[in-house]
Amino acid sequence: MPDVDEMKEGKKYYTDVPQQTEGFFLKGSNALDWGMKNRLARIFNPKTGRTVMLAVDHGYFQGPTTGLERIDINILPLVPYADTLMLTRGILRSIVPPSVSQSIVLRVSGGTSILKELSNEEIAVDIEDSIRLNVCAMAVQVFIGGEYERQSIINMTKMVDIGTRYGIPTLAVTAVGKDMAKDARYFRLATRICAELGAHYIKTYYVEDGFETVTASCPVPIVMAGGKKLPELDALTMACRAVQEGAAGVDMGRNIFQSESPVAMIQAVKAVVHDNETPAKAFDLYNTLKNE
Ligand code: 5RP
Repeated sequence: MPDVDEMKEGKKYYTDVPQQTEGFFLKGSNALDWGMKNRLARIFNPKTGRTVMLAVDHGYFQGPTTGLERIDINILPLVPYADTLMLTRGILRSIVPPSVSQSIVLRVSGGTSILKELSNEEIAVDIEDSIRLNVCAMAVQVFIGGEYERQSIINMTKMVDIGTRYGIPTLAVTAVGKDMAKDARYFRLATRICAELGAHYIKTYYVEDGFETVTASCPVPIVMAGGKKLPELDALTMACRAVQEGAAGVDMGRNIFQSESPVAMIQAVKAVVHDNETPAKAFDLYNTLKNE
């Protein structure tokens, strides 16, 4: 039982100090519930408003991708430099130690392989498993203009509904079919559809011409997908342009883990994303770290 007199002494109401009500730092996310915001704040660094997501989920449709043959050997050393890991539950459970402090974005769509039509996906993970794995977001592929466009959009909206019930955000990943034009017009269409239908943030490719119109017309954060392997300076330049043109970070895979020095490359990407470093300085950093 607390001492009554002592409680009186200790009462400090600060009646002259209004309680602070801060807005949430992420674009378009202020109306979300506490759990959603807390999870997003584990993906996006609240100090910079940006994220470096390391994407290693490629095996879910293409098997042991170059650079991902041994995730325990090739990828675990990169983990300390990432804000977030994007991966499948199979790799998470079998290889990633549960002591990691990085947030997890779980790939939850699947059901196809490179041998068949990729857009024919379903939801491939039960929400209970995402909760059990303590993930901070669930990633669903959306194939705008693809053969199974409607099915993939409905996969996403279902995850938004289920995730909202439990406070877990949905990341919509805009997938581009082989024959589709990868231009700003297409990505404005794809990202806006995903956002309008409830995605909490969206992964999309960088385009040299008009990327800022993609980020401007999308009401929630966009992270830039890396795409196929480029020379390191080119990849750093692309990441730099993306964040300077409104992306809230990157979700890069091959341009990091297929680099000659993945550990140096992820630190150079981090410098571009979180420290606004120029591509040239980040490339110097890459070379210095590579030669250490
Ligand atoms: C698959 C994905 C992958 O995570 C993404 O493609 C990986 O990134 P990168 O293109 O940088 O290798 O979303 O559809």
